[in-house]
Amino acid sequence: MQTLYTREEIHKRIVELGDEITKVYSPITDEIMAVCVLKGAVHFFSDLVLEIKLDVLYSFVQVSSYSGTGSTERVRVKSWLDESIYGKHILVVEDIVDTGVTLNYILGYFSKYKPATLKVATLFEKKAHRKIDVPVDFVGFEIDDKFIVGYGFDYDQRKRNLPFVGVENA
Ligand code: IMP
Ligand code: MG
Repeated sequence: MQTLYTREEIHKRIVELGDEITKVYSPITDEIMAVCVLKGAVHFFSDLVLEIKLDVLYSFVQVSSYSGTGSTERVRVKSWLDESIYGKHILVVEDIVDTGVTLNYILGYFSKYKPATLKVATLFEKKAHRKIDVPVDFVGFEIDDKFIVGYGFDYDQRKRNLPFVGVENA
């Protein structure tokens, strides 16, 4: 396993993202609802919300378009919002935007419920496989075409709890 980002590097970037997010929302609201896209974003979500200096309501959805290491076109909804997002400032918190299929699906549905604003924070963005040009407002790191594990990222549900982001050696 090769470390791509240490826990310290990830944390430093999340502090910066929290500041950026606080600055963007402060002129318009003192409360947002952050929606964690489970399971991958669990650590990013919990670290990020602690760095946002606004009231943050928590919500969780579980959606995936993945099996193993290959992205498929099918989006599976495993659990969905349990309260209204109408009129709220919604920040979708994703682990990674790869093809854009998952995020595009989420944003399509969320926009129908008429939130006041709808923005996206993702820890990683991979541009190599992008199929749908979805708007992403806050990006932690851009990465090349590598399959990462750790800090929430899995390979067939394993390795999520590694305390760093790594790449399996070829
Ligand atoms: P998309 O729909 O292709 O954008 O896929 C996004 C989802 O694929 C993410 O939420 C991740 O769960 C998963 N994914 C994409 N790239 C990786 C990776 O390098 N490691 C682990 N999971 C990944
Ligand atoms: Mg995911």
